[in-house]
Amino acid sequence: MNKIFVDTKKIRFQTAPDLYGLFFEEINRGGDGGLYPEMLRNRSFEDSLVPDGCTEMIREDGTVDIQNENGWFCAFNNGEGKTKWACRTPSTPVPAWYVQDAQMNLDGEMRLNERRRVSLHVRFEPMGRLWNTGFGGLSCRKGERYAFYAFLEAKKPCELRVSLASSKGESYDTQAVMVESGSFLRYDCVLSAREDDFDGILLIEAPSGGDVHIGFISLMPVETYKNHGLRKDLMELLAGANARFLRFPGGCVVEGFTKETMLRFSNTVGPVWERPSHYLMWQYRTTNGLGYHEFLQMCEDLGVEAMYVVNAGISCQVRGPVFAEGEELEAWIQEALDAVAYATEPAGTRWGDLRAKMGHPAPFSLKYIEIGNENMGPEYRRRYQKFYQALKKRYPDIIYVSNTHTENEGLVTEVVDEHYYDTPEFFAEDRRRYETYDRQGPKIFIGEYEAFQGSGIATLHAALCEAMFLFGAEKNQDVVALSAYAPLLQNVEYTSWYPNLIMFDNHRSFGIPSYHMLSLLGANRGKNVVESRVETSGLCYVPSGQPGLGSVRPGLLFRNARCHEKPVSIKRFFQNMVVEEQEGYLTAIDPSVPPMKPFPGKADPSQNCFVIFDAPAEQSDIFEVEVMAEEGQGIILTVFNRAEQAYIFTEEHHGEEVWNHRTVRNAQWRIQDGISSVVDPCIWGDKPLAPSAPCILTPGIWHTLRTEITQDGFLAYVDGKLLHQARQTEVPKIDCVATTEGEKIYIKLLNMSRTDEEVQITLDRMVEDVYEKLVLTADDPMAVNTFEEPERVQVVSEACRGASTYFCISIPAHSLSVLRLRAM
Ligand code: AHR
Repeated sequence: MNKIFVDTKKIRFQTAPDLYGLFFEEINRGGDGGLYPEMLRNRSFEDSLVPDGCTEMIREDGTVDIQNENGWFCAFNNGEGKTKWACRTPSTPVPAWYVQDAQMNLDGEMRLNERRRVSLHVRFEPMGRLWNTGFGGLSCRKGERYAFYAFLEAKKPCELRVSLASSKGESYDTQAVMVESGSFLRYDCVLSAREDDFDGILLIEAPSGGDVHIGFISLMPVETYKNHGLRKDLMELLAGANARFLRFPGGCVVEGFTKETMLRFSNTVGPVWERPSHYLMWQYRTTNGLGYHEFLQMCEDLGVEAMYVVNAGISCQVRGPVFAEGEELEAWIQEALDAVAYATEPAGTRWGDLRAKMGHPAPFSLKYIEIGNENMGPEYRRRYQKFYQALKKRYPDIIYVSNTHTENEGLVTEVVDEHYYDTPEFFAEDRRRYETYDRQGPKIFIGEYEAFQGSGIATLHAALCEAMFLFGAEKNQDVVALSAYAPLLQNVEYTSWYPNLIMFDNHRSFGIPSYHMLSLLGANRGKNVVESRVETSGLCYVPSGQPGLGSVRPGLLFRNARCHEKPVSIKRFFQNMVVEEQEGYLTAIDPSVPPMKPFPGKADPSQNCFVIFDAPAEQSDIFEVEVMAEEGQGIILTVFNRAEQAYIFTEEHHGEEVWNHRTVRNAQWRIQDGISSVVDPCIWGDKPLAPSAPCILTPGIWHTLRTEITQDGFLAYVDGKLLHQARQTEVPKIDCVATTEGEKIYIKLLNMSRTDEEVQITLDRMVEDVYEKLVLTADDPMAVNTFEEPERVQVVSEACRGASTYFCISIPAHSLSVLRLRAM
C-alpha cells in the first residue's frame, strides 16, 4: 500500500509567488495571424524579400533556401517558408496574394514610409481582381465584424470593391472604397460575415480598372480580448493557464540569425505600418503587430508579471553568432535601457510619451528583465556584466535573469535561466535535480522546458513526466523561483516546432495535456511548502522500440542483424547519417546533404552513420548483430530507440521530412578507443547507466554484440561475455507535494503507474470531512487532445467525503490529482 505523510505544521519555506509562468515566442505563426489576429498573410508584401545578411541557395529540385554568413540555412521558397508549407500553397510571386485580370508586382520605389521596403503595385483591368488567402484561409463567422484598412495610392481616382468572400469569390459583404489620386491615404471599412466559412478570402475588385499601389493592408476581427486587439479564444486559454508571469518575446527570435535580425524593441512599437518587418529563423516574416507594447498590455490584461528578454548584443550562437562590440554594443545596452524606459517612465519623457500615444499613459509594470537568450561562454559573460551594471544602476528594482551560471565566474547573478528539452522519461527521472543546488546561490528559472523528444510527447504521459519534474521544483522552490513551458502557441498550418502548449487553426484552439497539468498546478499553489513523505515502490522506464546501429564515421561492416534469432532489415536511415546498405556496409552516400550544426555537447552528427532496424516492438528485447570495425572505428549501438516515430525537428530534405537522430530517445552502448560504456544520451549531457568497461574489438574480425532488455534496463554482451548491466533511473510510482495557506491544505499526487492505486494519507491535524478532488487523467497514458477531442485529457473535479487525520483514497492510473482539504 502506498503511504503519504503530511506534516502541515512543519513549514519548509514559502512558495515562490511566480513559480508558474508562460513563455511566448513568435514561432509556428503563433503571433502574427494567431494571437495577434491579423487575417491577411503578407500584409506588408515583404514576405518574399530575402532577409538582409542572407543569400539564396537554389537546390537541385528547385526549392530555395536562405543562408546566413556563417553557413546556417533554412528553406525559404520565395518567402513561403518551409517546403511543406510552400508545396500546399498555389504558386504566386507575392506570397498569399493572387490576381485575375490584373498584374501585380512589388515596387521598391513607391513606399508608404521609410520603414516599408516595398508596396504592391496592381494594374487592374476592368473587373480585375486581387485576393488574399490568409493563414490557411480567412476565418469568417456569421454575424461577426471585421475591420479593414489599407494605405492606397492611385494614378487616377478609381473605385475598389472590398469583399469578404468564399474561396470561389462569392461575396459575404462588399464595401466600396473610392481611391483618390496623389499620395498614400488610409481607407477604412468594416465587413461582416453572412455565414461561417473558415476558408474565406479577402477580395479586392476594380469594376472600371485602376492603377493602384497598396502600401500596407490589414483585416482584423473587431471583437478582441478586452478590446486590446488579441484573439479571444487564445487569450482565454492563456488566462486559464493560471500563470503568474509572461516571458517574451523569445527565445531564439530575440537573438536573430544575422546582424539585421537581432530583435530591437524599438522596431516593435509605434503604428504597426511603421514597424519594420523581419524574417525569423522559424521560417516566416513577422510584421511585428504583436510588439513590445502589446506584450506589456497582454500582461496587464492577464494579470501577470512581465519578463522582457533583451538582446545581449549577440545573435544566435548555435546558428553562427555575430558579436556586437564597441559603439554597437553600447547601442544594444541603450536599447535595453530604452525598453525599460518605454514600460516604466512617466508620460512627459521620450518613451513614456510614445507609450501614452499608443494608449497607455500610466507606466506598465515590468518585474523581470532577462539579458539575452541561450547565450553562453566568455563572450556572453562579458556582455552580461555590462548590461547588468547599466540596467541595475538605472533600474535597481527590476529582477535580472542571466542565461548561464555567471555566478560561477564571480559575476553578480540574481536568477539563472535553465532550459530543458528532452524525453518525457528524462523529466521524471530528473525530478531530484534541484535538491543539490546551493541554497545561497542565485534563484533558478526553468525558463524553457518540454518533453519534445522520443515517443509519447504531447500525451498525458508526457504531461505527467513533466509534472514529476515540476514536483521536484515545487519541493525546492526556495531555489526554483520561476518556470515556463516552451513553446506556447502553434498554428497547425505552420508548424515549425512541435509540441506546443496550445494548438490552434484559424478558428479553433485547445490545450495539450501539459496545458491542463500546468493550469491545475498553477491554480493550487498555497503559501507554504510543508513537510511530506511518500512510501511507495519504484518503476523504471525500460527502453523499448527499434534497435539501431551506428558508427562514429563511415565504414563499419555489419551482418546478421536479428531479433530473437529472426533476421531484421534496415528500416530507416538518419539524416546526415545518410547511408546505403551495401551488404551491411555503413557509409555516407549523399555528401551533398549539408551537415547540421551539432547541438552543444553533441558529437558532430555529420560524422556519424546510423541505421534503425525494422524489429517488431514485441521482439525487440533481444537483439544481436555481428560487426567488423576498422582500426579506430567507434561503434554506437542504440539500444532500443524509444520512438516508433520521430517527432519534432523532422528536418526537411528536398521537401521530404526525414528523421533526425535528435528526435529519438535511446539508450546507447558505445565502444570506442578500447572502452565500452552504456549511457542515456540526455540533451545536455550523457547519463551513465552502468560503469564503463575495457573492450577491444579486433579489426578484421567479426564480433557479436547482443543486448537483452531486463526489468530495469538491459544487458550488453560482446561475443557471449556480459559487459554491462545497464539500469535506468527508478522513479517513484506515487509522488506527492503538499502546501498550505491558512486553513487550506493542498496535497498534489502523481500516480505514474498503469494501475489505479490505493493511497493511505496521514496528516498531523484534524481536517474537515468534505474535500475536493481534482483529477487530470484519461483512459490511456498515450492519450492526446485534438480538434476532434479537445478535452480527452482534462481536469475533472469531484466533491468527496471521508477526509480525516488518517484516510485512504484511490487515485486513477496515470493521473495527477490535487486534494483540497480544510483544517479544522
Ligand atoms: O522554444 C523554442 C526554442 O528553443 C527557443 O527559441 C530557444 O530559446 C530554444 O532553443
